[in-house]
Amino acid sequence: MRVFQCAVMGSGGVGKSAITVRFINGSYLEWYDPTNRKQFSVDGQPCLLEILDTAGIDQYLTLNDMFIRESEGFVLVFSLCQRDTFEEVIRTYEAIQRIKLPEGGRTVPIVIVGNKADLLDEREVDSTEGEKLASGWNCSYYETSARTATNIIPVFEDIVRQLRKN
Ligand code: GTP
Ligand code: MG
Repeated sequence: MRVFQCAVMGSGGVGKSAITVRFINGSYLEWYDPTNRKQFSVDGQPCLLEILDTAGIDQYLTLNDMFIRESEGFVLVFSLCQRDTFEEVIRTYEAIQRIKLPEGGRTVPIVIVGNKADLLDEREVDSTEGEKLASGWNCSYYETSARTATNIIPVFEDIVRQLRKN
């Protein structure tokens, strides 16, 4: 069985841990297996995905560089209710390109995620903006809610499909 690593990155409080827990454990904001691994099947083929749930704090920029070096795929999360977290995705994307592209010039598996889609009244970023950003980078875009378990599995299936091709 193939084993893949991906990092979940983004600003503080956007829901990186909530998304990871929802995927690994199926629950919302509850304790989960700290190894952060899940065996699941994508397109009928089993794989083991190891997820690095990073902390979104700016002081750890050098740590982020290390996470980028050590991961093969990236789930870049922002909050649909907080525009500055959308801008942060751009900076993280640029850091990934800077660090990863010299390694061989292949495209890096990346999925863009707008989380907290359940908070309809608090939206600050439109779907079209998220789609436009992602398509400009040839990435997929998903709007998720860790709270209502919306679109969480498709995010990780997508990253696995990209990692298999890589
Ligand atoms: P750091 O680890 O501090 O960088 O934050 P994080 O990105 O891991 O965010 P976390 O998963 O801790 O979520 C922060 C808060 O956002 C949680 O306490 C939840 O209340 C809320 N939250 C996360 N996901 C969702 C969601 O999909 N919908 C709603 N309504 N709230 C969410
Ligand atoms: Mg967290």
